[in-house]
Amino acid sequence: MSTKISSLMGSVLQAALTPHPVDRYLELVDPMLTWRDLRAEVVGVRRTTDRTVTLTLRPTRQWKGHKAGQYVQVSAVIDGVRHKRCFSPANAAGDHRDDLELTITAHDDGFVSRHLFDHAEPGMVLGLDQAAGDFTLPANPGRAAVFISGGSGITPVLSMLRTLVARNYRGAMTFVHYARSEADVAYFQELQNLAALHPNLDLRLHYTRGVAPDHFTGAHLADVDTDDADIFLCGPASLMDAVREHCESAGLADRLHTEAFTLTIPAVDPNQPVTGTLGFTDSNVTVENDGRTILDQAESAGLSPESGCRMGICFSCTKVKKSGCTRNVLTGELDSEADQHIQLCVNTPVGDVEIEV
Ligand SMILES: Cc1cc2nc3c(=O)[nH]c(=O)nc-3n(C[C@H](O)[C@H](O)[C@H](O)COP(=O)(O)OP(=O)(O)OC[C@H]3O[C@@H](n4cnc5c(N)ncnc54)[C@H](O)[C@@H]3O)c2cc1C
Ligand code: FES
Repeated sequence: MSTKISSLMGSVLQAALTPHPVDRYLELVDPMLTWRDLRAEVVGVRRTTDRTVTLTLRPTRQWKGHKAGQYVQVSAVIDGVRHKRCFSPANAAGDHRDDLELTITAHDDGFVSRHLFDHAEPGMVLGLDQAAGDFTLPANPGRAAVFISGGSGITPVLSMLRTLVARNYRGAMTFVHYARSEADVAYFQELQNLAALHPNLDLRLHYTRGVAPDHFTGAHLADVDTDDADIFLCGPASLMDAVREHCESAGLADRLHTEAFTLTIPAVDPNQPVTGTLGFTDSNVTVENDGRTILDQAESAGLSPESGCRMGICFSCTKVKKSGCTRNVLTGELDSEADQHIQLCVNTPVGDVEIEV
C-alpha cells in the first residue's frame, strides 16, 4: 500500500474514531451540522415577563428526548469562553423529534441567565447535553398530584402538569405557584386557560410581594386532598424548607419529591482550620487554600474548569485529585486517597491538595 493511501486511510479512520475534530470542521460550514456533538438552535424567543425569556430550542439529530421534570445542560459562548448551566425543559415530555422549551429567569448578577435574557435571538446555536435527573413523574401516576413551585422553579413542574394533561390524566391535580406578583408569572395566561378547561386542575397562585406578602404556610394545603398524592416541589431554599417542614409534620415526607436549582454552601466551614495550598497541576498554578470549594478557588485563580449545576448533580466538574485530603460539603466526608475522581463544585481542600486542572 502506498504511503499516500495509508496516510489517507489513517486520516479517515482517525476522523471516524475521533468525532470531535470532525465537528470542529463541520461547525465552520454550519454549526447545526454535527457528527457527534449535540447542539440546539434557538428558533423562538419570547420575553415572557420583565425577568424571564422563553426559548424554543431545536436540537440536532442526536437528541433523545426528555422525561417531564428532568434538566438539560446548556452551554453558551460568552466573550470567547464556554459557560454551562442547567435548565429544566418546561414543555411536556417528548422524544427525539420534539423541540425544547426553556424559560430562563435573569438574575440581577447572573452571568449566563442575564446573557441569554439580553442576547438570545433566533439562529443562536447553543451546546446541549442529553436530559438527566430523577425528579420525574412516576411511571404510573397515582390518584392525585400536587405541584408546588416558586419563581423559576415552575419549569420542571409545569412540564409534569403539561405531560399529565397531554396524557388525559383523570386524577386530581393541584398546582400551587409562588411568584413576586401576577406580572412575574411567565405562564399566567396558559395556567388560567388550563384551569378553565380541566375541572380536575386546581390552580393556586400566591404573590410574595406587595401590600400583603403571601408566603407558603401549611394552610395553603389544608383543604387539598393529599391522600395518595405525590407532591413535587421546586423553588427557592426558603420555600423548599417551609414545604419540607410542613410535609414532615403532616406525615407526607415519603411522598415529597424535590428539585433545587441552587445549593447553599457555607462559604467556609468554621469547624475546619483553613490551611495549606491548592495546586492546579495542569495549569502550573498554586494558590493559598481559602477554604471555599475547589471550583470557586480555581475560578478566582483565573482558571475555567468545566462546570454545570455547581451543586454536585451533573458531574461535569469531575477531575482527578492527585494528592491531599478533601471534604465533600454535601456529606461532610473526608477523602485522603490519591488519584481519586472528585467533583470540584462540592469539595473543599483540607490542607495541601493537588488537582488535575
Ligand atoms: C437542575 C437544575 C435545573 C434548573 N432549571 C432552571 C430553569 O428551568 N430556569 C432557570 O431560570 N434556572 C434554572 N436553573 C438555574 C440555572 O442553572 C442557573 O443557576 C441560573 O440561571 C443562574 O445562572 P447565572 O449564570 O445567571 O448566575 P451565576 O453567574 O452562576 O450566579 C450569579 C448569582 O446568582 C445566584 N444564583 C444563581 N442561581 C440562582 C437561583 N436559581 N436563585 C437565586 N439565586 C441564584 C448565585 O448564587 C450568584 O450569587 C436550574 C438549575 C439546576 C441545578
Ligand atoms: S458542576 Fe455539576 S457536579 Fe459540579
